[in-house]
Amino acid sequence: MDYRFQVIGYPIKHSLSPWIHEQFMKSANLQGEYTKNEIKPEELQEKFEQIKQDGIKGFNVTVPHKQGIIRLLDELDDTAEKMGAVNTVAYQDGKWIGFNTDGTGYVRSLKMKYDELFSNKENKKILLLGAGGAARAIFYALYKSGFKQIDLANRTTETARDLAYLTEGGTETKVFSLSDIEKKTNDYDLIVQTTSVGMVPNEKQSILPIFHVKESAVVSDIVYQPIKTRLLEQAEKAGAKIHFGHTMLLYQAQTSFEIWTGIKPETNDMDEQLRKILEGR
Ligand code: ATR
Repeated sequence: MDYRFQVIGYPIKHSLSPWIHEQFMKSANLQGEYTKNEIKPEELQEKFEQIKQDGIKGFNVTVPHKQGIIRLLDELDDTAEKMGAVNTVAYQDGKWIGFNTDGTGYVRSLKMKYDELFSNKENKKILLLGAGGAARAIFYALYKSGFKQIDLANRTTETARDLAYLTEGGTETKVFSLSDIEKKTNDYDLIVQTTSVGMVPNEKQSILPIFHVKESAVVSDIVYQPIKTRLLEQAEKAGAKIHFGHTMLLYQAQTSFEIWTGIKPETNDMDEQLRKILEGR
């Protein structure tokens, strides 16, 4: 059987998903293709009908369709429902189902690199910087993985306060402003930067100066252009271990591939290869 997958979005030119999924198909020994489908917001419904007619059974969804696709689907899984956003669609048992693999992908990437964070999870202290869509996905996935102490810091504290309700009391979550948290960064075992601050062409920006970190702390940034953001550079100088954003991209794709095919593909040296592709851009 030939697999045919797509990513839909606008713009979509620079998407790395085709490269990632083609590697997965090779490593899983599957025949197929993964193509880009550029769809403007006003074309979504019509183009989705076309996708159905073309016999495509799975696709990724990126900006600006992550919310817009929802009303066209038959069902959402629990996480996509909680996120109010879909990044993966699969045709299963006659239904079009929406999933969101961003958070799971992030947690998988972290576990691959820093498994030690996952022992004694209840006592680990985590700080998320930002309170947008990516923060929401990561917050929920860390909570689902068993972490209990997850604080939030955001430029607009009100938005972070709203996000804190997501876990319905299942986490002990304190909310801080960015200026307040600056002096407290050394309280945390894991700090995750979840916004686009520091991304090219604004690579000189950093959401927070990180000067003090706990011994053995991990600092993570979901921005992957540049690979090593200003925040990660500072964190490394302060003695932290660092975790790169492109690995989240890789593992959210792995989770999508698994939903479509039932196979969890090997990632082998794709982390390094992806890093080289991004550094060459
Ligand atoms: P996404 O869905 O990609 O996460 P988003 O929902 O627009 O994007 O969220 C953007 C996040 O980046 C928010 O936490 C936002 O802070 P506010 O809630 O205060 O807007 C944060 N953000 C964006 N630009 C920022 C900046 N220059 N400094 C600090 N935080 C910023």
